[in-house]
Amino acid sequence: MTRRAVIRGTGHYLPERVVENSWFEGRLDTTDEWIRSRSGIERRHFAAEGQMTSDLGIRAARAALDRAGLTPADIDGIILATSTPDFTFPAVATTVQAGLGIKRGFAFDVQAVCAGFVFALANADAMIRAGQADRILVIGAETFSRIMDWTDRSTCVLFGDGAGAVVLEAQDGAGTSDDRGILSSDLNSDGSYRELLYVDGGVSSTGTAGQLRMQGNLVFRHAVEKLARTAHTALDRAGLTPDQVDWLVPHQANMRIITATAQKMGLPLDKVVLTVADHGNTSAASIPLALSVADGQGRFTPGQVVVTEAIGGGLSWGAVVLRW
Ligand code: UT7
Repeated sequence: MTRRAVIRGTGHYLPERVVENSWFEGRLDTTDEWIRSRSGIERRHFAAEGQMTSDLGIRAARAALDRAGLTPADIDGIILATSTPDFTFPAVATTVQAGLGIKRGFAFDVQAVCAGFVFALANADAMIRAGQADRILVIGAETFSRIMDWTDRSTCVLFGDGAGAVVLEAQDGAGTSDDRGILSSDLNSDGSYRELLYVDGGVSSTGTAGQLRMQGNLVFRHAVEKLARTAHTALDRAGLTPDQVDWLVPHQANMRIITATAQKMGLPLDKVVLTVADHGNTSAASIPLALSVADGQGRFTPGQVVVTEAIGGGLSWGAVVLRW
């Protein structure tokens, strides 16, 4: 017998305010056509004034618990991926914990930028397999609109706000790739590339929150090269091959990156979950958002193989392979 971490429920929350590409046309030297053709993004959601990352996370967590048929009392721990916390500390996860009325178990944040949810999922899986918890809420929640430079057309048109969550639950498996649950993961970082994508402020440097800076075309090249490779490595570890993949749920940063990665894996686009057009890049929230949207549409069936992959600031990148 092998302990496995199975997804028992998914949920998400998107702020009410939807901003179409045309909104930027009057403010910057840009066009809907440029944004659409270079990134695949058509619109994104922005949090309301005063709405914090934890508010989004709490709503996503409640939705995931509802779909799982569970209550907050059933949860042993919360791992929340974000790079846009409410405050420097405490962890957003503890605010979500309090918001759900949970008073036991652990709650902490993971910071791996756009790869944050993949890192959080791999950590939650390890904790469940080690017997530290039976049920963990894994959340990706971001308010990237708070760290945009609204005069920088090369970044501010790309990002959006939102949150997604999954409930992971311990179940016994046979220890083979036929088991349901997380089968493998592959996590990587290379800090020598940290200046390709960073925020130019912080507690121990400027004492301010700072704004996002990105050399988009260089990040693009790393993404195309590294994402298919990490997905292949994770599949190898699971004892599976790309032709056995039913769904690719990629980080939703750029339609051209997603298409190139799917092509390298030999997957047709109808096996790829796409939310980039409606959500933009929501960093650590993008994969759980996509998982929840597709799950809500009934697209995943038990036994199907799902691969998630992401890359972001650090650079940090990775993939998780699971059987639904
Ligand atoms: O989620 C974390 C990981 N991040 C990513 O995966 C993002 C990766 N990068 C990308 O998605 C793409 O690089 C972008 C969408 C950011 C940019 O696409 P690109 O094809 O790499 O364009 P580029 O940066 O090479 O810029 C091409 C041109 C430039 O003009 P010149 O120098 O050729 O005259 C830019 O100044 O497009 C210009 N440009 C714009 N034009 C109109 C940049 N932003 C805009 C804009 N509207 N918003």
